[in-house]
This record gives sequence, C-alpha cells and structure tokens, in this order.
Amino acid sequence: MTTRPKEEKPAPSRAAVPARAKPAGGDDSLAQPAQQPRTLEECRRCALWHDATQPVPGRGPKRAAILLVGEQPGDQEDKAGEPFVGPAGNLLDRALDEARVRRDDVFITNAVKHFKWFPRGKRRMHKTPAQREVQACHYWLEKELASVRPRVAVALGATALRALMQRADVRLTAMLGQPVRIGDLTVVPTYHPSFILRAPDPRSREMAYAALVQALQRAGRIASDAGDGQTPAAGA
Ligand code: URA
Repeated sequence: MTTRPKEEKPAPSRAAVPARAKPAGGDDSLAQPAQQPRTLEECRRCALWHDATQPVPGRGPKRAAILLVGEQPGDQEDKAGEPFVGPAGNLLDRALDEARVRRDDVFITNAVKHFKWFPRGKRRMHKTPAQREVQACHYWLEKELASVRPRVAVALGATALRALMQRADVRLTAMLGQPVRIGDLTVVPTYHPSFILRAPDPRSREMAYAALVQALQRAGRIASDAGDGQTPAAGA
C-alpha cells in the first residue's frame, strides 16, 4: 500500500463539498507557523489551506498608489482564485465607480488568503478568521505592501484594519473614516462591503455605503497627493 505524503491534496473540486475530517490534532496540526514559504501554494503557516480550493493572492498593478484590503476570499473568490469577484466585489465595484477610482488602478487583496468556511447543507458559509490566522497571513500582506508600495491602504472592515495596524485591539467603529499614518502608509478604515450587504434596513445600508464611497474618495485624494488631515498613529 502506498502512503500519500502528508500535505498532498486531491485535485481541488469546484463544487461545494463538506469539510474533510481533520486529524485528531485539530486545525493547528496542519499549520507550521514558523514556515517561510516562497509561494502561496506552499503556505502551511495556518491550517486554512486544507479546506480551501486554492489560495487567493492580491490582484492589481505591480505598483499602485491605492491598496484595498478585505478580510478573506469568499465562496466565489475561492473558486475563481481572484479577490472580490462575488456579491461583495460587485458592491465594491459600484462604490469605486462612484468614488471615481478605477479598479484597474488599485491593488486589491485580503488579510487572509484562504477561504475559511463551515458547511450548511450544500453551502459553504463564511467563517471569520481567527486572529492567529490573520497573524500567520500577515507574512503575505507584508510582502504585498513591500512590493506594491501603496501610498494609501483602505481597510475594508475590522479584520483588515487589525491586520494593517498589527493590533488585535483596534475597533473599527472608533476609527471609521479617520486616516491613520503607519510609517509612510496612510490607512483609511471603512466598512466591509459584505457588512453593507447585510445591513438590517435600507437606511443603515445607505449610510454605510456612503461611508465606503467617502473612504474611497479620500484614498483617491491621498493617493494623488492632495493631503487629507491624516492623524499620525501613536508610535508610528
Ligand atoms: N470578501 C472579502 O473580504 N474578500 C473577498 O475577496 C471577497 C469577499
């Protein structure tokens, strides 16, 4: 009998499938946090690779003045291998249009590069990544920031904001719309498009959407060097 190497996975299935049984050690037994992989495909820094179809790298120009950071790929992004191509991506496209920021000019990525999910019937439901997964994946975000060298990063939601600020204790609601400097980078915190889609009523949806458009406009102004009353972060 041949034994399969530990990390080998069957060919990715595009269909929604239930999670495969985990080894007794749990999620973390599939992780090697000290690993410094050269490619996302090789990454085992956390266990999320195991149930994802593929990693979803950031996408956009090699150099871009604006970088947008989401949380993690969703079901459609996991299948397509591209960030923000599902419903949240459609809303983001609309907001970018309204803010007069061209999607082709911005680099779009996520704090976490694999889809974390749990099964509900035949559907794969989004599950918020744990802080240790965000931390493990910061390895990749840092590489993207270093090569794209944006002037401004828009944090789409709390996970992105915590990843960019490298602090688990920051609260999005306390920082909404207030640009923060981290070294040479200005971070603009705003709502995640999925939060806007899930808003409980039309009025709160409209308000959150308007805040997203404003944040993108602000990023556009900062990127074009107009300045924007940025607040230096403590210790930055
Ligand atoms: N939500 C995210 O945070 N990122 C995506 O790529 C899609 C949905």
